[in-house]
Amino acid sequence: MPPAIARSVASLRSLVAGWRAAGERVALVPTMGALHRGHITLVEAVRQHCRRVVVSIFVNPLQFAPGSDFNRYPRSFETDCRQVDAAGGDAVFAPSVEEMYPAGFATEVRVAGLTETLCGPFRPGHFDGVATVVAKLFIQCGCDLAAFGEKDYQQLQVVRRMATDLDLPLTILGVPTVREPDGLALSSRNAYLSPAERAIAPRLYAIMQQAAAALEAGATAAGAEAMARKALKDAGFNPVEYVELVDAESLARLDRLRGQARLAVAAWLGQTRLIDNIPVPSAR
Ligand code: PAF
Repeated sequence: MPPAIARSVASLRSLVAGWRAAGERVALVPTMGALHRGHITLVEAVRQHCRRVVVSIFVNPLQFAPGSDFNRYPRSFETDCRQVDAAGGDAVFAPSVEEMYPAGFATEVRVAGLTETLCGPFRPGHFDGVATVVAKLFIQCGCDLAAFGEKDYQQLQVVRRMATDLDLPLTILGVPTVREPDGLALSSRNAYLSPAERAIAPRLYAIMQQAAAALEAGATAAGAEAMARKALKDAGFNPVEYVELVDAESLARLDRLRGQARLAVAAWLGQTRLIDNIPVPSAR
């Protein structure tokens, strides 16, 4: 059966209530649409745990800065629904902006600390918009489980903190990044890359791997970060916003490899901002 399409919170709730009455567990995969294999991997991951899967598709204006890519963000609803169908999803929740943020909407969810590093200073307000919409989606859906890709690792940690702090009764599943064969992390924004930029883009992952190898061999974070910054600039990334070794849980900056860490990068290729991160050490 093709997935049910719910446009309102009321219709989503009535679908979920029916499943719950039958004793079925419900998972949510929050997305902004333009689905790719990374999103499908999230659907497949939650299906291991829950009988029912809802995929939300909502391009959330709250998490875009004024003048950023909200208007040109790729939208492909029909194709997305077909992909959800093929992946075995049960429902697509696709509210309008008015349904999500009716007139008078005035509440913001803000996670301190974790949002102040890495992408935080470069995208003021972004994580407040993410935390607000994700909190609403969790409450609207009443899901048992929700999955997020490790590609947006800081987002994953922010959502985990928010769900814990607000006592939301669900489990958050982090799913490893899905990559193209050449190493480029899948992202809806890869569609913005010109063919020439697309050819350069996989260097990001290759350079991160070199920096991670240097860290594992004993290099300081400052040394490995400087090496990666230079290699990225030489490859054509400009500006390089950050290259940082951080603790995998707190996202606190590390001066050398200690415990479970992530090496995280944000850099621009033409008009496209790419982010990526890898676990260091790589074997987990
Ligand atoms: O990762 C995304 O696509 C978005 O930030 C999310 C989690 C769906 C919230 O709008």
